[in-house]
Amino acid sequence: MAIERTLSIIKPDAVAKNVIGKIYDRFESAGLKIVASRMAHLSQAEAEQFYAVHAARPFFKDLVSFMISGPVMIQVLEGEGAIAKNRDLMGATDPKKADAGTIRADFADSIDANAVHGSDAPETAAVEVAFFFAGMNVFNR
Ligand code: TYD
Repeated sequence: MAIERTLSIIKPDAVAKNVIGKIYDRFESAGLKIVASRMAHLSQAEAEQFYAVHAARPFFKDLVSFMISGPVMIQVLEGEGAIAKNRDLMGATDPKKADAGTIRADFADSIDANAVHGSDAPETAAVEVAFFFAGMNVFNR
């Protein structure tokens, strides 16, 4: 399987719960390397642009409000099949439906405060990595 990069966000609920380290441990224990990272408090415009694909969905306004409610930790993960591997580690969008042992099952409270974001395909991963790390160092380790 190819070495891929994917964009991961630890959302405001998980940052507030002080579980950044526990979530990073999940990534690293699964063989994913953290090749770039930064903490940010997103502006409304940034959150709206990042989630533009969901602009017509009924949950869009609440999603944007939630994403700007506190700081987020943003990282690029690299490894074999990193996109699918990160999605597996995250678990289903709705934590109630997420498999035991996944990040969302263990750290998320609800479908709208669900702890993590992860790119869902190579095309979105490329766009999302560039969105947050354009012109910044993403390291080859
Ligand atoms: P989506 O891309 O469907 O899920 P995922 O994050 O697992 O790729 O949705 C993006 C985010 O939108 C999701 O993480 C939380 C929010 N959301 C809701 O608040 N309610 C919903 O019914 C859905 C489908 C998503």
